[in-house]
Amino acid sequence: MILMPNPYDPQTPARPEYFGGREHILEKLRERIAMAGQHGKSGGILIWGHRCVGKTSLITKITSEVRGTPNSPSNVLIITRRLARTTNDQELYTMLNEEMIEQVEKRQNVVNKIKGLAGNISGLNAFSLGVALNKTETEKSPYHKWRSYVENLENAELILIAIDDADWLSIEAIGELKTIVEEVSGIPVLLIISGFIDFEEKLVNQYSPVARVFSGASFNIGRFSLDETKEVLMKPLVGEKTSWNNGAIKVLQKVSGGYPYLVQCVASASYSEGETITEGRVKEKTTAAVNIGRSWLDHEIPEASNQDVISFAKITKLDKDIISSTEISDAGVSPPYIGRLVKLGVLKQVRRGTYSIEKSPMIATFELLKRKLPYE
Ligand SMILES: Nc1ncnc2c1ncn2[C@@H]1O[C@H](COP(=O)(O)OP(=O)(O)OP(=O)(O)O)[C@@H](O)[C@H]1O
Ligand SMILES: [Mg+2]
Repeated sequence: MILMPNPYDPQTPARPEYFGGREHILEKLRERIAMAGQHGKSGGILIWGHRCVGKTSLITKITSEVRGTPNSPSNVLIITRRLARTTNDQELYTMLNEEMIEQVEKRQNVVNKIKGLAGNISGLNAFSLGVALNKTETEKSPYHKWRSYVENLENAELILIAIDDADWLSIEAIGELKTIVEEVSGIPVLLIISGFIDFEEKLVNQYSPVARVFSGASFNIGRFSLDETKEVLMKPLVGEKTSWNNGAIKVLQKVSGGYPYLVQCVASASYSEGETITEGRVKEKTTAAVNIGRSWLDHEIPEASNQDVISFAKITKLDKDIISSTEISDAGVSPPYIGRLVKLGVLKQVRRGTYSIEKSPMIATFELLKRKLPYE
């Protein structure tokens, strides 16, 4: 018997074939992409949420769907980049230009390969930048290069740009997002960006013209419902003997709070090849699950007392990112504790009497588990 490696892994984004849940958002994204391709409608999509909630997984999933299969790639030119440092407008265009050229070359190779194999490539053409590549381009600015690439690109029905962790874009670069989707002629451009929890607010308050690019297509992703968690657990086990019984799934949902990262921690700790995983096993493995999550989560609120953690957990039950002091006290957290949570960096006062939750609510769930405090 060949052992299957543990398919649950909190440290890497979900593989598209293991991606579960988010059906409602995926449906909307598919619709929007189809509309862009078929009706030439450019635009933007914003995916935002707390750390580790599944932004990268979602972007990877949707781009992999759009890409098609190796033998039958779609006619969408896909540019994906994850940002990890501050990126200004020039750097943004330079990055897009590099990716554009790389994707055009890749496509050429794919077309050659398929031609060599089967010969039948009806409907499959190499992308081409036509004249744009041949001209002496050196004196052009990155912006002008990009424009000329987009204008000259042939055989692509859509350019899909996915920028993961767009929080790293400078103010100028954010301003250019509007230009990228609005000043296009010919091929439509669809821009998918992901950002941290405060990204949307920042856009709306500081860059409202840019925010309009994403209006009607802004998705806040959060925890999984029980059904979504179930799907995430089952997906990698198709055709396998290993399974989860219903009790186990329910307990896993409860201890993980449905936070994708914690779902993966608990699932990974509880996994047992070839067996039916039970409620008892999940409970037994919570300490192991906490240990898996430590590398990312242990240093978030080191100074917090048990009471702080409980207060934080009460606030997260409201399932909101922006909350008023009235809501906080209604949840059973008294003003001195609000002050403590602000000090710990859990809450930030955004206006008088209004707070945003700065730390992922998942951290409250993690701390409850770690300290063996009662969870509900
Ligand atoms: N839809 C999903 N199906 C299965 N697993 C998921 C899903 N979404 C997220 N996960 C799991 O949750 C964890 C975090 O996911 P991911 O890296 O995509 O989050 P993120 O929001 O991009 O995090 P970061 O803030 O660090 O960029 C990973 O272990 C991933 O496998
Ligand atoms: Mg990510």
